[in-house]
Amino acid sequence: MAYWDVTSKIIETPNNELAVLGFKGKKISDPIHVASKHVKAFTHFVETHYVFTNEGSGLTVDYYFSRFDEVLAALDPEYVRQHGIFFTDDNLSKFALWFVERYFFGRHTEESLNDYIVFDPAGGSGNLVTSWRGHLRHKIVSELQPDLLKVIEKRMRQDPYHIETGFTIIPKTVTNQGLNFLDRAADDYMNEIERVLAEKSLRMDKPLAFLLNPPYKSTDENEDNRTDKAANYGVHASITAHTGEDAAKERYLTFVAQILNICQRQVHQSPDLQPLLLIFTPTSWLIPRPTYAGFRRIFDAHFQYEDGFVVTSNEFFKLQGRWPVAFTLWRYKPDPDRQNHVTVRDLTNLTARQLFRFDWNAPAELLDGLLEPVMEKA
Ligand SMILES: C[S@@+](CC[C@H](N)C(=O)[O-])C[C@H]1O[C@@H](n2cnc3c(N)ncnc32)[C@H](O)[C@@H]1O
Repeated sequence: MAYWDVTSKIIETPNNELAVLGFKGKKISDPIHVASKHVKAFTHFVETHYVFTNEGSGLTVDYYFSRFDEVLAALDPEYVRQHGIFFTDDNLSKFALWFVERYFFGRHTEESLNDYIVFDPAGGSGNLVTSWRGHLRHKIVSELQPDLLKVIEKRMRQDPYHIETGFTIIPKTVTNQGLNFLDRAADDYMNEIERVLAEKSLRMDKPLAFLLNPPYKSTDENEDNRTDKAANYGVHASITAHTGEDAAKERYLTFVAQILNICQRQVHQSPDLQPLLLIFTPTSWLIPRPTYAGFRRIFDAHFQYEDGFVVTSNEFFKLQGRWPVAFTLWRYKPDPDRQNHVTVRDLTNLTARQLFRFDWNAPAELLDGLLEPVMEKA
């Protein structure tokens, strides 16, 4: 996507591989291996087509990146299913950030997400943290799937903002593996992140704001499918200690439990910090369903509910079935007696089409006015 425009040509590399040279010779892709019998047809195809982009209508290179989950789904549908890979609609990502700015921070405070290190441990192609240009300064994006990590890196390189403003860290091991959020203790996971930060002379000197759309995937089904797709990893005991074995079958809950451990660790190290959790999930843990009540007691003793909304699943996500997906905001603020009552704004009538029309680069006050009718009905 990043190299293939109307001027693109195919060139041969010294290792007899091919590369796409685009944008009038200014951008060159990684080498691509193409079997010799296909070289001619491949070259012809690339040189007689191009990826159409149009900044004005929102069809940017970045927009194509945001739909990379559909490419993965076409190549390996079972992998995508087993790892709960479906990306957050680009405009819904921006809407969620607007919601945080408008309703959580409010326009009257000096504080904003720029005072936090925004962390997406299940970044996909980076939709949530990269979607709204200019709105998040300090970011960490991680992923389990190595190809997606590479995509995140390429996507960030497209836009100098991510490199020049604040920092964007994409921790990855030299062995080109992704980073599993669930199979290790919070300490191990964060040591890895802090090691990468230290390499860049950066420190964890701000509260964390977890911003994520974790996999919604129950592991309560045929185990062979998971083993085939490397999805059968063990969830660390420090996570199941909070969820119990039954609730641990729901991947998003284990993500929440691990986030609790990491926030606890950060506040233990720096007692003045108050991390945030901004998360898309199904609604069953918010009600909560009886299986999740035990976990909610532990969670509520650590996090205070702030605000949230629900939208309809298949309107914004490539998911089967029609059910409410919540975006909820929580602040880490331990209180052993707290019991949160979660009331969300009902946006289940909101359509992807409605949000597609927005000029997200408009000044904040104008955007507030434009989105007012949407919120009024909620
Ligand atoms: C629902 S997708 C969301 C992606 C992205 N945050 C977005 O909203 O576009 C969930 C992502 O979690 C990743 N994932 C699944 N299991 C994981 C794990 N154990 N550790 C880290 N990432 C994981 C998947 O590869 C997938 O990209």
